[in-house]
Amino acid sequence: MSDTDHSTTLTWDTAAAAAAYRRRDMRLAERLIFPTALHHLGRPARPDAAVLDIGCGTGVLAALMARTHGWTVHGLDVSPHMLEIARTDNAHPRIDYHLFDGRSLPDIADGTVDAAVCCLVYCTDPDDHRLAALTSEIERVLRPGAPYILADLNPDATGEQFSTLRYGEPKTTYSDGDSVPVVLRRLDGTTDALTCHFRTLATYTSLLTDAGFPTPTVDLPTDTATIAPYMVLTTHKDR
Ligand SMILES: C[S@@+](CC[C@H](N)C(=O)[O-])C[C@H]1O[C@@H](n2cnc3c(N)ncnc32)[C@H](O)[C@@H]1O
Repeated sequence: MSDTDHSTTLTWDTAAAAAAYRRRDMRLAERLIFPTALHHLGRPARPDAAVLDIGCGTGVLAALMARTHGWTVHGLDVSPHMLEIARTDNAHPRIDYHLFDGRSLPDIADGTVDAAVCCLVYCTDPDDHRLAALTSEIERVLRPGAPYILADLNPDATGEQFSTLRYGEPKTTYSDGDSVPVVLRRLDGTTDALTCHFRTLATYTSLLTDAGFPTPTVDLPTDTATIAPYMVLTTHKDR
């Protein structure tokens, strides 16, 4: 991975971060995290079944869910810059995109949503209280038995150089709450630097169980001998 000027480390709420995320090399995500999340999501049981894509970013996963899996998708994000790109790059008749506050879903009634997916979002949000509130809201709006797929960077893979990303410095130990430098590869081989936030698998699990979800199953997809770059936690609204 060749280097770029990393004197600027981007925070996720900026237009620059959205532009960087749009130009990232997605090949590892397309091989590992997206198909695994889609596998656990499954196909809609009814033609009009709807999935919430929480933190939809530039809309790549939303488009996969709508185009290839037949879901109606409500894409929600806290960044107007990400949503602007999503509406441009990943528009689809079965997707709508909305700005929200990252913690509450006041317009959605209890027990009315068929599924929810949240991919690579918790690692970008430093605020534990906001994520706890958001997770409780997701639990509230899901129908009994509906799946919640929480996919993210694998906390056990910090410092590993993957083909398209590195999460954390080599030989560095991170603890809950630590900021972690992330390097994302662009398609031209240069890179962007952003900041993420470390949480252990135990903390992810507690966020889910404290919100009322059963303990998740953990999938660590990898297509090489190396450690998995991502983890996919699957749980569901209790019946
Ligand atoms: C790394 S991007 C992931 C985008 C997309 N889910 C994907 O997998 O490509 C993280 C996104 O999460 C959004 N985000 C951060 N905190 C959030 C929160 N509490 N609720 C919803 N979105 C959030 C950011 O604005 C950003 O668009």
